[in-house]
Amino acid sequence: MSRFAARIQILLVLVSTFSLLLIPSESAVSSIDLGSEWMKVAVVNLKPGQSPISIAINEMSKRKSPVLVAFHGGNRLVGEEAAGIVARYPDKVYSFIRDMIGKLYKNAKDLTSSLYLPYDLVEDSRGAAGFRIDDGVTVYTPEELLAMVLSYGITLAESHARVPLKDAVITVPPYFGQPERRGILQAAQLAGINVLSLINEHAGAALQYGIDKDFANESRHVIFYDMGSTSAYAALVYFSAYNTKEFGKTVSVNQFQVKDVRWDSKLGGQDLELRLVEYFADEFNKQLGNGFDVRTSPKAMAKLKKQVKRTKEILSANTVAPISVESLYDDLDFRSTISREKFEELCADLWERALVPLKEVLRNSGLKIDDIYAVELIGGATRVPKLQAKLQEFLGRNDLDKHLDADEAIVLGASLHAANLSDGIKLNRRLGMIDGSTYGFVLRLDGPDILEDENTDMLLIPRMKKMPIKLFRSIKHNKDFEASLSYDEANELPPGVLSSKFAQYSVLGLTETSEKYAARNLSSPIKANLHFSLSRSGVISLDRAEAVIEITEWVEVPRKNTTLENNTAESFNASTETSPGNTSQGNAESLNSSDDVDISPDATKGKQDTDINTEKILKKKTFRVPLKVVAKSSGPGSVLSKDSFSEAKIRLDALDKKDAERRKTAELKNSLEEYIYSTREKIEDNAEVGKVSSEEERSFFEEKLSEVQEWLYTDGEDASASEFKERLESLKAIGDPIFFRLNELTARPLACEHARLYLNDLQKIVNNWEMNKPWLPKAKTEEVLSEAEKLRNWLEEKEEQQKRTSILSTPIFTSEEVYQKVTKLQDKVATVNRIPKPKPKIEKPPKEEPVSQENSTGTSNNTSGEPTSETGQTTQDSVDSSHTGTDQERAVHDEL
Ligand SMILES: *[C@@H]1O[C@H](CO)[C@@H](O)[C@H](O)[C@H]1NC(C)=O
Ligand SMILES: *[C@@H]1O[C@H](CO)[C@@H](O)[C@H](O)[C@H]1NC(C)=O
Ligand SMILES: *[C@@H]1O[C@H](CO)[C@@H](O)[C@H](O)[C@H]1NC(C)=O
Ligand SMILES: *[C@@H]1O[C@H](CO)[C@@H](O)[C@H](O)[C@H]1NC(C)=O
Ligand SMILES: *[C@@H]1O[C@H](CO)[C@@H](O)[C@H](O)[C@H]1NC(C)=O
Ligand SMILES: *[C@@H]1O[C@H](CO)[C@@H](O)[C@H](O)[C@H]1NC(C)=O
Ligand SMILES: *[C@@H]1O[C@H](CO)[C@@H](O)[C@H](O)[C@H]1NC(C)=O
Ligand SMILES: *[C@@H]1O[C@H](CO)[C@@H](O)[C@H](O)[C@H]1NC(C)=O
Ligand SMILES: *[C@@H]1O[C@H](CO)[C@@H](O)[C@H](O)[C@H]1NC(C)=O
Repeated sequence: MSRFAARIQILLVLVSTFSLLLIPSESAVSSIDLGSEWMKVAVVNLKPGQSPISIAINEMSKRKSPVLVAFHGGNRLVGEEAAGIVARYPDKVYSFIRDMIGKLYKNAKDLTSSLYLPYDLVEDSRGAAGFRIDDGVTVYTPEELLAMVLSYGITLAESHARVPLKDAVITVPPYFGQPERRGILQAAQLAGINVLSLINEHAGAALQYGIDKDFANESRHVIFYDMGSTSAYAALVYFSAYNTKEFGKTVSVNQFQVKDVRWDSKLGGQDLELRLVEYFADEFNKQLGNGFDVRTSPKAMAKLKKQVKRTKEILSANTVAPISVESLYDDLDFRSTISREKFEELCADLWERALVPLKEVLRNSGLKIDDIYAVELIGGATRVPKLQAKLQEFLGRNDLDKHLDADEAIVLGASLHAANLSDGIKLNRRLGMIDGSTYGFVLRLDGPDILEDENTDMLLIPRMKKMPIKLFRSIKHNKDFEASLSYDEANELPPGVLSSKFAQYSVLGLTETSEKYAARNLSSPIKANLHFSLSRSGVISLDRAEAVIEITEWVEVPRKNTTLENNTAESFNASTETSPGNTSQGNAESLNSSDDVDISPDATKGKQDTDINTEKILKKKTFRVPLKVVAKSSGPGSVLSKDSFSEAKIRLDALDKKDAERRKTAELKNSLEEYIYSTREKIEDNAEVGKVSSEEERSFFEEKLSEVQEWLYTDGEDASASEFKERLESLKAIGDPIFFRLNELTARPLACEHARLYLNDLQKIVNNWEMNKPWLPKAKTEEVLSEAEKLRNWLEEKEEQQKRTSILSTPIFTSEEVYQKVTKLQDKVATVNRIPKPKPKIEKPPKEEPVSQENSTGTSNNTSGEPTSETGQTTQDSVDSSHTGTDQERAVHDEL
């Protein structure tokens, strides 16, 4: 990590130092690598004294957090807290949430049952899965659960950066289709995150790989092979450099382009683990020998899965690994071992499958293995020795490339992308990124009179087309119609997708517009332009549509006088007559009438010579009339409706509030316990307490302490925040006066001593004034002396009274009062001390407040400086106040 930080330190600079000083919050962005099981969070934060890019650790100081949400006993738990109860309540802890976004109910159901996850899933009106929690009523959508996870992630980033932080880049696996990407964006929105962009995992890895390298003399093809929890992919990326001119100099800029990516969305570390789970489940059943299948007990399976994870990890470094599960089922312990060989045999069919994405990417590229500079491994599952051996064998290489951090490369690369997309941070090191859409998209049209020709079914965006991009399609048509978007079926569809169509729009208003213009002299058939965008996040949408009407008409225009060059130019421009009323939306005709004027010079001159003031010209006008685009969001894979979204937002806010309350309650309970404990200790151990309190007082107090302690462990177990607070305050009401007296026992004499020392010093200061600052007004120095006398008398009087008062009663005066009085006197002395020496000629009387001159900035602001001190210094900038502060102090001490 430190190696990385040191490297990046030189790569990042701020746009301007001032923006850091003034608005530090704007310079922090984050990235979230959202996996099936784990989430990693990185922060880019240009705060002095912090490394610019770092991993945000969680409350357990872990560099990755479990993607889990649990509902238990009325509480919502996220991340580590949820992980804490997973073995006990497997039905209440939701995992693999990311993989249920944008999926059909059936897909979610299949996934959870294959993983022995006993969730209470219900089908919602969209056809997606909902999670019914333990209250038996409330159902959460996957988007809501994911929002809770993302919110947890951004909180980790925030507490790491120590500034409010809302901007993030979130990773997605390459095979995520439209509903998945939209769903993640919506979940992030629910969590209040401003998503700068989604980024494909492989692009994050490529970015991290390329950022510290120079490809000017050596372009290269690199394959990134990633096997995570639930999926594997291979991405072919081409790294190169191009020259560009900048400020007259030729500079070389590095860039990478993702050429291809192929995947297996159903093969990951989880599948290897499941083979072990099945194996051990059989073994346990055999040990039990009564025909019982442990798979029917969710709790047992949760316990077994947890231990299998460990066993698999041990197998990566050892040839044999044990497994041990305490009371796996029915109080029976389960113990066994497995050899690496056996494990590899159990997964025999998976090893070959793992190579498929790699083989496909090579085959489709036409490249040979030797053309590939490196095959970089990332993802936790690539640590499995057998997988490495298979890859090595296939590649015919002795060494595999493991130059990236298998766990963190993606999140770190994604954070570079976040920095690049943010306003406040500039990457000093440039790396151009070209990633493409992992699916191709087809546009289909349907409606009355739409001809069933090639026009109705067109490839809008081919696979691997660079993102982002905006494009439009023009259709000759004059009636309302339907447009739909589908995946290009020439390639694989996203996992779980049954129908290639994912979006449907009605384009309305075309019929009406056509009728309106029917009587005009149309110079070409009416068209509809459809404007699409493919976002950086890989989300395609039909953003707007417009009707285009071209009309040719004779119009009268003011006659031109060609003798004046001036007027010619002017009138020519004016003749385009851009309509002024561009705000009036109702008037379609004036909207966007961008006119391709063509004045035929022959016509102008030849025909209209007789007319003195006006002439007729043939003019071509183009009208663009916006059409209504209605997205039909229904059916499987659609995002939350507006209503469901606001409802979800309210529910999440309520949960957040409850969480905050829960945390506050825990804190207050803690401080009450802490108070009781430490107070008891003080009373018992500190003999001085006996001096300042009576026997009765102490025993009353101890009684109260015991009472509250008793309550704490009985009725107080689940008490509310206010109850804890109340009790703490009632105890403090008794304890505080005692401890105050105890403290004053030593503090008061010290304060008095301090005051007396100062009063003695003051005499010297005044003597010094008489000698060295004769201009000081007599009245002022006398005032100081009289104040000092007053303080001395007050002190004597109070000390006398205190002596006559019992140590057990409220003190007559406090150390704080003494310090306050001394400080007040010191301030007065300082003010007098600063009275400047009068200038020989100038009329300005040397009063405390110099009369303000023409430019009041220096004077009205600060009376501290001598008039001679440069105003420039005091008005300079924000350090101003602290600066003058130190000056004052120095002035006082100089005298002592
Ligand atoms: C690239 O090659 C040129 C010419 O051979 C050389 O001057 C330059 O230093 C090289 N750059 C790198 C990064 O190796
Ligand atoms: C960074 O931004 C520049 C300019 O928008 C872009 O050309 C480049 O591809 C971006 N690089 C990354 C890694 O995001
Ligand atoms: C209609 O447009 C054509 C050219 O497209 C033109 O020749 C004709 O004069 C126009 N007719 C009217 C009535 O404006
Ligand atoms: C152009 O304008 C000038 C001055 O207004 C006038 O003298 C001249 O006759 C005009 N020419 C034509 C062709 O109308
Ligand atoms: C051009 O127009 C400017 C301002 O309208 C005017 O001052 C100038 O005299 C004109 N030139 C001619 C050649 O008419
Ligand atoms: C006329 O339009 C041209 C091109 O749009 C522009 O360069 C020129 O300045 C305009 N002239 C006047 C008088 O507005
Ligand atoms: C008309 O459009 C122009 C440029 O598009 C804009 O500057 C101007 O404010 C608009 N006028 C009104 C009244 O909206
Ligand atoms: C006051 O400020 C003005 C400009 O703000 C400057 O021109 C002038 O010289 C200043 N006068 C003095 C006495 O500093
Ligand atoms: C000092 O001057 C600045 C700018 O003229 C002003 O904003 C500020 O309020 C002043 N401070 C005091 C204490 O007068």
